[in-house]
Amino acid sequence: MIPGPTPVPETVLLEVAKHPIGHRSKEFSDIFISCINDLKWLGKTNDSDAFIFASSGTGVMEAAIANSVSPGDKVLSLVIGVFGKRFAQIAQTYGGQVETITADSGKVIDPLMLEEKLSKDKNNEIKVVTITHSETSTGAANDLKTLSGIVKKHGALLLVDAVTSLGCMNVEIDNWGLDIVVSGSQKGFMLPPGLGFVYVSKKAWEYNKNCKSPRFYFDFVKSKKSLDEQTTPFTPNVSFICGLKKAFEIMKKEGLENIISRHERLKTNLRNGLKKLGLKLLTEDKNASAAITAIYPPDGVNVPDIRAAYKKDWDITVANGQDTLKDKIFRIGHLGFVSDRDIEMALVVTEKVLKKLKS
Ligand SMILES: Cc1ncc(COP(=O)(O)O)c(C=O)c1O
Repeated sequence: MIPGPTPVPETVLLEVAKHPIGHRSKEFSDIFISCINDLKWLGKTNDSDAFIFASSGTGVMEAAIANSVSPGDKVLSLVIGVFGKRFAQIAQTYGGQVETITADSGKVIDPLMLEEKLSKDKNNEIKVVTITHSETSTGAANDLKTLSGIVKKHGALLLVDAVTSLGCMNVEIDNWGLDIVVSGSQKGFMLPPGLGFVYVSKKAWEYNKNCKSPRFYFDFVKSKKSLDEQTTPFTPNVSFICGLKKAFEIMKKEGLENIISRHERLKTNLRNGLKKLGLKLLTEDKNASAAITAIYPPDGVNVPDIRAAYKKDWDITVANGQDTLKDKIFRIGHLGFVSDRDIEMALVVTEKVLKKLKS
C-alpha cells in the first residue's frame, strides 16, 4: 500500500506480458490513438494535445520545463513538499530564475499569498508557475481549481504535476486553464512504472515556439508531428501502451466520476478509521489528497518498527516519510486499483500492528 508503484490488475499484466507488436503497424497505431483519446477523456480536455513518453514522472516534469522555460525566465514554484521542490530544481537546472512560495509540511498553498505575490508582478515578469496537485510526500492536495484561476488572471503559464492526482482526483484541464500537465503510469493508471504522460495547451505551444532550452527526445514538436501521423517519433513502450489500453477499458467501465468518488470515499474511510484508532494525521481533512494519507506514529512507537510489523506479520508495505519527514511519518497509498476491502483490511492490520508494538 505504497503511493506508487500501485497494484496492477491481472488483465493489464497479461496484456503487458504479450509479445510486443511492431510500433509502425496499423494494429499498434490504433491502440496508441485510442490511448491518446482516453488520456484526453481522463484529463477532461479537447483543447490540449496529449503525449506518451517512455519515462518516469520526473522525466515528463523535465519535458514540461524544457519545452517552456528559457534560460533567464522568471519561474514561480509553489512548493508543498519533495515533488514541488523537484519541479523548482528542474526549472533551475534549465536556467530559470526560480522563486518559491513554500508551505509547511502537510499544508497547502494559500490562495491569498499567491494572489498577493502575482499582483506585485506588475510587468508580468513571472513567465511560468509550477505546482504540485497532490503532494505524495505529505498527502496534501492543493486547491488546483482556485490556484489555477489566480495564475490564469495573471497570465503566466501553469505547469502542473498531476502524477498522483490524475486518475484519482478531478482534474479539468480545459475548464481550469492548465497549460502543461504531467503524470505517470505507476499511480492512478494501474500500470507498472515506465510511461510518462504530458498534456500541452494552445498557450503552451506559444511558449514552446519561443523556448530556447535544449531538448531532443522530449521535444513536443517532434511528438506532435508524429502524432498527426498517428505514431511516435521514436520506439514507444509498446507493451505498456497495450497495457494502458486495457487499463483505460477498466477505467471507462467504472466511469470517471465513479473513479473520483471511489478515491474520495477510500480516503475518508481510511482517515476516519485511523483517527478512531487514535492516530494523528499530517494533513487536515480539507487539504487531504485522495491518493495518499500521511500518519504520525503514536507516542513511544517508531516508524521503522511500524513498517517492519506491517511487512513481517501481514506482508503489507507502507511507505516511510521522505526527506525531512523520514521516520517522522508513514504513508499509506490508496490510489489506482484499490478497493473498499483494501481500506478495511489496512485498518484492521493497523490496529493489530499498533496493539503489538504498544504491548
Ligand atoms: C507527485 C509526484 N511527482 C513526481 C513524481 C516523480 O515520479 P517518478 O518517480 O516516476 O520520476 C512522483 C513520484 O512518486 C510524485 O508522486
